[in-house]
This record gives sequence, structure tokens and C-alpha cells, in this order.
Amino acid sequence: GSLINPTTLTSYETITGCLIAVNAHGNIDWIIHDVKDSSIQETLLQKGLFDVDVTIVPLQEGQFIMPGFVDTHTHAPQVPNTGTGYQSELLDWLENFTFPMEANFQDVDFAKKVYPSIIKKFIASGTTTCCYYGTLHLESNKVLTDIVHSLAQTLSRPTSVDWRTLTPYLNKLQAHRMDALSPQKCNMDRNCPSYYIEPSSSRSISDTQAFISYVRSLSPGPSNNPGNPLIYPVVTPRFAISCTNELLSSLKTLVHLDTRLHIQTHISENMKEVEYTKELYPDCEHYAGVYDSYGLLRNNTILAHAIWLQEKEIDLVKEREVGLSHCPTSNFNLRSGIAPIGKYLDRGVKIGLGTDVSGGFSASMLVAMRNASIASTVVALQNNPTNAPIEEGKFTNRQLPLATLLYLATKGGAEVCVLDHQIGSLEPGKSFDALIVDVSSISSTSKWPGDVDPALRKISTTTSSLRSSSRAILEGLLEKFVFCGDDRNVFAVFVQGKLIGGTSYA
Ligand code: GUN
Ligand code: FE
Repeated sequence: GSLINPTTLTSYETITGCLIAVNAHGNIDWIIHDVKDSSIQETLLQKGLFDVDVTIVPLQEGQFIMPGFVDTHTHAPQVPNTGTGYQSELLDWLENFTFPMEANFQDVDFAKKVYPSIIKKFIASGTTTCCYYGTLHLESNKVLTDIVHSLAQTLSRPTSVDWRTLTPYLNKLQAHRMDALSPQKCNMDRNCPSYYIEPSSSRSISDTQAFISYVRSLSPGPSNNPGNPLIYPVVTPRFAISCTNELLSSLKTLVHLDTRLHIQTHISENMKEVEYTKELYPDCEHYAGVYDSYGLLRNNTILAHAIWLQEKEIDLVKEREVGLSHCPTSNFNLRSGIAPIGKYLDRGVKIGLGTDVSGGFSASMLVAMRNASIASTVVALQNNPTNAPIEEGKFTNRQLPLATLLYLATKGGAEVCVLDHQIGSLEPGKSFDALIVDVSSISSTSKWPGDVDPALRKISTTTSSLRSSSRAILEGLLEKFVFCGDDRNVFAVFVQGKLIGGTSYA
């Protein structure tokens, strides 16, 4: 079928007649272009796939394939709170809405009851890698991890299936697998209500160590190890305000001794938060300096929000190769501000998108992309109201183009996450983490690249006229999906080669 694949911050490829070979480990072996239906069997023979257990998944009219979304920042236990408390700003919102909800996860049975549908919600929206925050509770975070892991059953593949009959078969495949960066417990031992706070920094650290061991025991090796659930632990000091100096000092030692450990936290989201942080850490030059002084800024660190960074902080983030998670939906909802993402991109900072549920009201990365577009438009309107031309290749004060939105939601997120296995685009050697998108219900075009125009098709599937018309059609379909699509348009979700969700799966 047709493939839409991010390439750079400003470009993506659209390929028709694409054949993608996924091996038994769920990695992509090869991708070839311009394959006609009639030559598929012949192509497979040429590739040496004779007499081999091969399943072919043909895309239907109105469908295309693309890499799955990478959500670089969200809070699983806050999903029940979506659509609540948006008249409040961050610190009040945490106190009045967020902490009371998260405190419910003290009850492990509550966690067992609500987490499965929460994880399924993220999968249904097309997210194939997700960087979750949990709560401070060790046992409930294990439940969250177990749920992600239990959704990772082994796929039993058919021994021989005629590819023409596969589409109905696709509906019956039984496999669950979620590629999660981290269901991770939060470290928070001060400035939190008495009913939702860790009793001591030492307990926070011992629980964190126990949790890291637990996650790693489930996720033993690299991605081409069959059965690997692809879960990574992430050290998660909630934010500077909620951590004592002792706790941050202990985390410093922990991450120093283990450079594989990912780190995530919040930074510079709300002005009152920034001021309070300065009061609590008077010796640090700025907010980023607090984390830096505790050794928490490095190339596998993810900082969420980063709205109010000073110039020096941007330099530090760049120097430490830290990734930023842009969470525009949440930034609008909680009146936090608008992150100058164009400026950060021009400085060469790694950027991904985050849904930040429940500051953000949707678990869908499509909504994050839309709000990233609107946020960049507001910046552009404020700083360049006459729409004067912007230097080629620059993003400051520019409305982010579709290609950039796609990149941030996939490949950009992958750069921020720094995983052992390769994700973010569909390329040989990478994990087959992919979506089959079906926009037939929201697309007004009746023409389709796989069946563009019978007259053109007869000439040749490689003529330039077909290529350019296919390009325009696929661009239009991607734009429709990004701005008008939702879970109903996510037909199939694959992680590491296995079907785990989408409307065809339900
Ligand atoms: N800062 C500290 N905790 C949180 C949280 O749960 N959500 C958001 N948006 N910001 C935070
Ligand atoms: Fe957050």
C-alpha cells in the first residue's frame, strides 16, 4: 500500500506500491517501492522468501501506513481526570484535582480496575511508544507495568495464508503488546499534601530501586530478543518543588552509577512554579541549573513543558543533549503559556510532543499535533503579524508545517526517548511500530494512490504524473488525518511487528 514516512524536520516521503518486509522479531528487513499487486509473489521469490511462512497484509483503498506515534510525556493515573479543573493554574490544579485523583492509586485494586482501559486508550489512539508517569505508589506502579506487560502475549502466526484473504484474517489475530518507555513511579517527598507524599527520601529511593529492578526483570534484553516487552524504567523526580535536596542527591548517585537509566521531570511550566523553585533553590542560577546540579541533565533526560526557559537554560539543555517534550494542549488548558518551539528547533534542541494527560484533555497525539500547530501560529501572529517571509529552514516565529508536526510526533519523539531499539520511522533495521490509517470516512477525495486513475494506472505505475498526483493525494490525506482524524481512523496498531490495537482489532 501507500507509506507516509517522516524523513527530516521539514520533509516526509510518500510512497505508493510499498512492500515492507517485517521479520519474526518484528523488525523491518527491507522496503521496496512501486510494487504492483500482480508482481508481489514474484518479488517475494526474488527476495528468497520461497516456501517461507509469509503473511501479506494488503492495504485497502483509503488506507495508508505510517510510523506509530511517540508520546514523550503523559500521566497514566490522571486519565480519569481529563476534562476537569481547567479554570485552575498548575499549582492549584495539582492540589485540588491531580493529587486527590492520584492518591486513589494507593488502593491496588483501584489500579487493577482502571489501568487496563487507560493503556488501551493510548493504544487505540495510535501511540506505540509512551512515556508514562505513574503515581508515588510502588505496588500500583507494578500493576501498571504488569498491565503493559500482560498485553504482550505472543502472536501465533498462521502457517499459510493467501494474501488476498488476509484482510478478514487481520481482524482475528490475537496479540497484545505495548511499547512503553516507562510506567514510572514519581519521586515526591515534600510540598505535597499529607495524604499523598512519600514518608522519607530514603523510602523514595528504596521504592525506586525496587521498581527499577522489577521493570528490568520483565524486560531482559534488546529488542530483537523475542518476548521482550520493551519496557524501560525512568527515574522520575516529579519536579524540583516536590523533591527535597536529600532526595535529589540520592537520585544523583543512582543515575550516576547507571547511565542507561532514563530520567524525566517537569521544567519551567508555570511562572509561579518557576518563582517558587527559585525560592527553594536560591543557590542555583536557574531552574535547569537545579536539575543540572543534581546530575539529572543528560542525553536520555526528558524535560516536559520548558515554556519559560532563559537563554542560558536553552544553551545548557542543548549542551547536555537533553530532550524537551512539548505539551501544547496542557499548556493552553492550564494557562501555563506557549513554548517557543520554533526557537528551540533553531537552536538544535531535540523536541518531541507530549499529551500530558490530564493537563492535556486528550490521550491522542493527533490533538497534541493540532495544538502544536495552533501554538506555533499564535507565536507567529504575535511576533510576525504581517507574515513577512521567514528564512528558509528556520522555525522561529513560523507556523509549524505539516512535515514538522509529523516529525515531532514520531521521529522527534524517538530522538528524545533514546531507546535501545530503533523507532520513529519505518526503515530497514527499525522496529515495525506502525499504524494503518483509514481516512476514507473523512476524506472527500474519491481518488486513491493505489487506484489513482485507471487511465494513468494503465500507462505505468512509475510515471512521474502518477507520482506527483499520488504525492498530492497522500499529503491531503495526511493533513485530513492530523486535523480531522481520531481513533476511528486508526485501523491497525502494530508494535514490534504485532497487531495490538486499532478498529480492526476491536
Ligand atoms: N508538574 C508537576 N506535576 C505535574 C503534573 O502532574 N502535570 C503537569 N502538567 N505539571 C506538573
Ligand atoms: Fe506532566
